[in-house]
Amino acid sequence: MIYEKKILLTDKLLENFVPIYRKHFIVDTLWNTKKIKYYEYEGIVASGLFKIPSLFYKKLSNLKIISLFAVGFDNVDLKICKERNIKVANTPGVLTRDVADLALTLLLSISRNLFQGQQYVISNLWIKKGPMVLTDSVYNKKVGIVGLGQIGKEFARKAEIFSMDINYFGPRKKNVKYKYFNNLKKMAKYIDYLVITCVGGEKTNNLINAEILNVMKKNAYLINVSRGTVVDEKALLQSLKNKTIKGAALDVYENEPKINPLFKKLSNVILHPHHGSGTLETRKSMAELSCVNLISFFKTGKPLYRVV
Ligand code: 8YV
Repeated sequence: MIYEKKILLTDKLLENFVPIYRKHFIVDTLWNTKKIKYYEYEGIVASGLFKIPSLFYKKLSNLKIISLFAVGFDNVDLKICKERNIKVANTPGVLTRDVADLALTLLLSISRNLFQGQQYVISNLWIKKGPMVLTDSVYNKKVGIVGLGQIGKEFARKAEIFSMDINYFGPRKKNVKYKYFNNLKKMAKYIDYLVITCVGGEKTNNLINAEILNVMKKNAYLINVSRGTVVDEKALLQSLKNKTIKGAALDVYENEPKINPLFKKLSNVILHPHHGSGTLETRKSMAELSCVNLISFFKTGKPLYRVV
């Protein structure tokens, strides 16, 4: 019976959705359980922001499945999971639209100086100085998407409405109408907006480094809704400080939530707290899907969406 299975929810991000899991399982939460008996849990649910500590793999001696409340899985040690036959499941699809929306929101907001505009009104600069400086139109501008997966494609679809010239870089050419670059540096040189939607993890670590940033146009922007690890933050900070690119709008960072404080000193950035999927509707769907993954696994041995 799956109802006897004990599962552990690891982080507070899941707090609103505990009843969804309680309908099917015996549920404990890491954030308000004093003495955790790790060996009791056959499944855990973790958000993408919870880097699963190596000690967990040792302590959770009966662990059979890690059901991620996320599409990304760079917070899990897949090698250990394979070795120990721990299944890993994720929640693709349900968050695609909201994450792509945020990428577009960031792109529009940085181009149109949305937050400076608000400050301009609040601090009476509008009265004292008159009209605000002119901003950048996004129409007919060139966008380069790094990683044309589900989120990248959804973003591209939306960007088309703004008549943007859409280009992409990734490991392989896809059957899409957009222009493919197999060379990231060439694409970085060509575009006005570099939009990062690829997976995190070893393969993409520091993909956007000084070499890439240095060939970008002086009036280009970088938007990141993927993982902070994809960008070499030191190199990005340098580019932003020296204004070799015009700005960056970031939802993700190398260290979250304690981001590099130097970002907070810059005026050419928008900083958002890793919240691409952070709408009530989407987070509820993610909870439901991660629960379906658990139910499916305990009934059939296979989660619906399996990573390993
Ligand atoms: C969330 C995410 O912000 O799905 C992912 O990979 O990064 C986002 O959906 C977070 O991971 C929630 O768990």
